[in-house]
Amino acid sequence: MIPTVDNILQNKYLDKDQIKLLLSLDNTEAETLFHRAHEVKNFHVGRKVYFRGLIEYSNICTKNCFYCGIRMDNSRYQRYVLSDDEVLEAARFANDNNFASIVIQAGERSSKDFTLTIENLLKRIHTETDGKLHVTLSLGEQTEETYKRWYDSGAHRYLLRIEVSNPGLYARLHPGDSRHTHKARLKALSLLRKTGYQVGSGVMIGLPFQTISDLAEDLCFFRDLDIDMVGMGPYIEHEDTPLYAFRDMIPSVTDRVNLSVKMVSILRIIMPDINIAATTALQALDPKGREKAIFAGANVIMPNLTPVKYRDNYLLYENKPNVKDQPDETKIALEKNIQAAGDEIGYGEWGDSRHYKRREAKSEKRNFL
Ligand code: 5AD
Ligand code: SF4
Repeated sequence: MIPTVDNILQNKYLDKDQIKLLLSLDNTEAETLFHRAHEVKNFHVGRKVYFRGLIEYSNICTKNCFYCGIRMDNSRYQRYVLSDDEVLEAARFANDNNFASIVIQAGERSSKDFTLTIENLLKRIHTETDGKLHVTLSLGEQTEETYKRWYDSGAHRYLLRIEVSNPGLYARLHPGDSRHTHKARLKALSLLRKTGYQVGSGVMIGLPFQTISDLAEDLCFFRDLDIDMVGMGPYIEHEDTPLYAFRDMIPSVTDRVNLSVKMVSILRIIMPDINIAATTALQALDPKGREKAIFAGANVIMPNLTPVKYRDNYLLYENKPNVKDQPDETKIALEKNIQAAGDEIGYGEWGDSRHYKRREAKSEKRNFL
């Protein structure tokens, strides 16, 4: 007999097979799952959604991931780097609007110049906002020394998506050289943890060659790693990338959206106190995508604060939404999304992951004993 959602959710610990069953639920049954995740979210992290102002600092990337529009070999986009003043202006906007937190994201680079520029920017943001604005970095794989220097300069959270947790699938989605290895990605995640960051990771959902079993494995991976934050969203094809040739293999838009919301809701149930983002990619495939994710367990949103003139050049995937919206328009639209989902915005709060705080408290206790 096939167990019902309620039967499955009675288990305190969901194993990979049970997660696979949940990922395979039809739409009606999935509603029960979403409602359960909604309750878990209310109970463990409350009904607040936190803003992280996203600054797409540069689209220069030294990598060539097969799925990504800004991969090094794509010559269609004009490459840019924001000036320090442009970054500081975006940071000021976030601070003045009580976002309390920003994310600086860019393609991957590790030159001395680059790492030093980031270090100086972090220090300036810290000084100019009296340490009020929290900074999350999303700048790819770096050395332990770089991670430490950035941490010491004021960054306290870091996002590094594993992209897919299955090493075999990872190898199919990246060039086979030494700069694109699953092992290095895992090492980087462990260095981030060691340095003291709140660590975020994530995956893409609905990729060619990806199975339900891979996705269940991804959720188990976050749990095994005891991750603090997760951002995951649907894969969206991009015609300038090698993976575009396999577009016939990916699930339909509706299926990718539903699968993504199921991933969010199951993650909320198995890791009740982490921070989970409602991603832009989800919104790109469904105008109600963000609301659905917030209802089913997400509690973080990343409004785009990149100056509008650069946005057309940071297209990781096709049909990226809101590329022309000014930051204040974005803010109003997101407030509406959040209210529609029945939640409120955690203005002026850093919204640290409760999971991280709990983990830190445990390790302090261990050190003390
Ligand atoms: N579709 C969806 N997400 C993508 N990313 C890169 N390319 C795509 C795509 N085609 C995601 C990756 C990366 C993040 C910055 O954007 O997961 O880590
Ligand atoms: Fe570069 Fe990141 Fe795109 Fe890979 S996913 S090509 S590292 S920006």
